Amino acid sequence: MQIKEAPATNHELREAINILGIETSCDETAAAIVADGKIIKSSIVASQDKLHEKYGGVVPEIASRAHIEKIYPIITEAIEQAQISKGDIDAIAVANQPGLTVALIVGVTAAKTLSFAWGKPLIAINHLHAHLQSALLAEEDLQLPAVALIVSGGHTCLYDYESPLEPKLLGSTIDDAAGEAFDKVAGILKLGYPGGPVIEEIAKKGNPEAIKFPRSMLGRDSLDFSFSGIKTAVLYYCHGQDMKGKNKVDSMSEQEIADIAASFEAAVVDVLVKKTKLAAEKIGAKTVLLGGGVAANSKLRGRLQEMCDSALPPKKLLVAPKQYCTDNAVMVASLGYYKFKAGLFADLTLEPKATG
Ligand code: KG4
Ligand code: ZN
Repeated sequence: MQIKEAPATNHELREAINILGIETSCDETAAAIVADGKIIKSSIVASQDKLHEKYGGVVPEIASRAHIEKIYPIITEAIEQAQISKGDIDAIAVANQPGLTVALIVGVTAAKTLSFAWGKPLIAINHLHAHLQSALLAEEDLQLPAVALIVSGGHTCLYDYESPLEPKLLGSTIDDAAGEAFDKVAGILKLGYPGGPVIEEIAKKGNPEAIKFPRSMLGRDSLDFSFSGIKTAVLYYCHGQDMKGKNKVDSMSEQEIADIAASFEAAVVDVLVKKTKLAAEKIGAKTVLLGGGVAANSKLRGRLQEMCDSALPPKKLLVAPKQYCTDNAVMVASLGYYKFKAGLFADLTLEPKATG
């Protein structure tokens, strides 16, 4: 996949629209400069994984404090790395929903302050719609209709994608998100946090058919998801229905752990692929878009590719590059460009919103 990185000279960009993107919705503090929605001039991400690891999940108070510490150095670095001055920035785009309110407020406050101080327009970005934009960074000729699957630590959503501005929600999770299930199962297996990457690695040595974990479809036609059942199934498998086998994980062999990881991953991927296929059939999609942290998973990418290749007629799969699957500000700045072109600006009353 060809992503446009910044060219050697600024000549090509003289007329470009430069957007500063800011992202603090969960546990990554990120800033980026993207020109014309696709040309990445800089991307800085400070991950808080180490801070949350011992708690097995994101602690909002810790996330908020870490964002406050990092936000200005990260923004400064993004501008410096892009080799532009603040005068070259056309607008400031910030993710203001959905996410942890105490985390979002840090990015929103920084964006509002800079917007006021520099006299630059402010753009409010829906974090999930931004994830979707990551899959389109390299695409010049998007064939519609398109169905988009966004799978992250906080959300699992299917969209009917017609334009960057108003993706239409087709279905979402009624309980846990797919990424959350990866994180919780990694916790049960004592593999650390975040769970997705480590489960993917360990699952490579396991047998995906070793254990038949449930695939919750919520009815034949449903485009909603539920992942709390599979998480509980793994918990019961490891500790027994009465939860009395508390030390069973400690006494499991590496192979047993790998089999559980592989069987769990296979079940989650199965559900995600089947639902995406159903959504694609419902809207007659020519293109499938995949984004969000769980989109970094190779099994999911491979199975969706097979689904698209074997469809009649085949569909084109557009997947976010791995470094732009998990939270980043490139996707925020990219979507900001399309809102800038449409004149969709926010004002200084902008607030963070937990849902979205
Ligand atoms: O999009 P993201 O960075 O944050 C949210 O918006 O939530 O997604 C983070 C989630 C975590 O739950 C993490 O375990 C999962 O993405 N993840 C993965 C992989 N890499 C990250 N899940 C499965 N396989 C991976 N390789
Ligand atoms: Zn995200």
